[in-house]
Amino acid sequence: MAGLPSNNRDSFGSKFGVIAAAAGSAVGLGNIWKFPYIAGVYGGAAFLFVYLGFILAIGIPIMLSELIIGRSSRSNAFGAFKVLAPGTPWRFIGILGVSAAFLILSFYGVVAGWSLQYIMLSIQDGFSSKTPEEIASLFSSLTESTVRPVVLQLVFMLLTGAIVIVGIKKGIEKYTKILMPLLVIILIFLCVKSLTLDGAKAGLEFLFKPDFSKLSGDGILSALGHAFFTLSLGMGTLITYGSYVQRDNNLLSTAFSVTIADTVIAILAGIAIFPAVFAFNIAPTEGPGLIFITLPNVFHQMPGGFVFSILFFILLTVAALTSSISILEVVVAYFKEEFQMNRKVATVLATVLVSMLGVLCSLSMGVLSPITFFGLNIFDLMDWISANLLLPIGGMFIAIFIGWIFGRKKVQKEVSYGGHLSGVLLSVFMFLVKFIAPIAIAIVLLNKVGLLSFS
Ligand code: PFF
Repeated sequence: MAGLPSNNRDSFGSKFGVIAAAAGSAVGLGNIWKFPYIAGVYGGAAFLFVYLGFILAIGIPIMLSELIIGRSSRSNAFGAFKVLAPGTPWRFIGILGVSAAFLILSFYGVVAGWSLQYIMLSIQDGFSSKTPEEIASLFSSLTESTVRPVVLQLVFMLLTGAIVIVGIKKGIEKYTKILMPLLVIILIFLCVKSLTLDGAKAGLEFLFKPDFSKLSGDGILSALGHAFFTLSLGMGTLITYGSYVQRDNNLLSTAFSVTIADTVIAILAGIAIFPAVFAFNIAPTEGPGLIFITLPNVFHQMPGGFVFSILFFILLTVAALTSSISILEVVVAYFKEEFQMNRKVATVLATVLVSMLGVLCSLSMGVLSPITFFGLNIFDLMDWISANLLLPIGGMFIAIFIGWIFGRKKVQKEVSYGGHLSGVLLSVFMFLVKFIAPIAIAIVLLNKVGLLSFS
């Protein structure tokens, strides 16, 4: 059969499977609550414009770089650098990636656990007789309590582990091929419902009307940081998935398809959320609040809100699940290949270790809240270190590796197996990974650690 890998590694079986899995990784909590909110805060369309620029100039090149590293090495995020640059310190980039996977999944699983609780609350029609204050305290009492969020996080991690343990084709590919279309159908339904509400227009204006006065330096930096998180870049997720992609796959078109899917879904999430928020005169608030406090207020006021809320939290959980399996797979592939474990042992071990850290994250919202580092509780610390430091650092070195070490000739060879990268496009790509991506990321990093200020 054309393009089978030369060794016995599991692989994706179809092109749609690759795109479903990679888009499943990209589309997650980042798209559904974070994107609509930050786009709104930083001037709607003005933010969107800058964000799309970063996606095109930095996101797509780094995504292609990760896929190239993965497929040409057919190794996990750590092993890939050992294969491509033996005996050099480059493999530590892989260690950084595996560490980021641990940290991200530990808090990601907690938020996904809350989402599970909100599916149950929606089914029990738990928001309908509540005042806005009661809905707000419902959320804080859930996140601050001890047993329930921990159990829910463990249930979510069990679901994640159950898919990963089966393998690539029969586990990750099979389930993302079902879950991603489901997600798109639910989202389109929610968009239609939201757009047909009276007063929906104000929400669309909030999201799409450019207001460049709100686009601060901070907004530009957030756009870059979010581009990384939302496309799952910088920690070897797409190196790992790339290692299961067959030779006849067109990596360039895969990178484009995944990016387009991720961006379209983020915009659709905005269209599903903001018209509803504005139609009921509710202020768009920050982060978790938008999803877990503001939206339940919207649901219980709107006709059909009962169904709307069940579907919404199923959507959120599905999106989180297709991302969490990609994060767990980074760790599992690393354990499996670097410590010669079989998939079952590697998955159980990775799931148990991540869940333990997840328990600490969950408790840090309640009983462990007095424990802080630099003013952040454990949950926020995991989020901050991974999103603001590890992903951008990983992405920067991945770009440098492809631009300066791997080089133009090998890039052209790897991309031409299942596709074509013309001379001009190749030159543009090399310029972006050699200069633009590393410099732009370095600027963001320096700003984040306080060494460079824009105001
Ligand atoms: N892209 C996911 C989201 O937007 O929710 C989060 C994520 C997944 C980040 C995988 C990093 C990663 F490697």
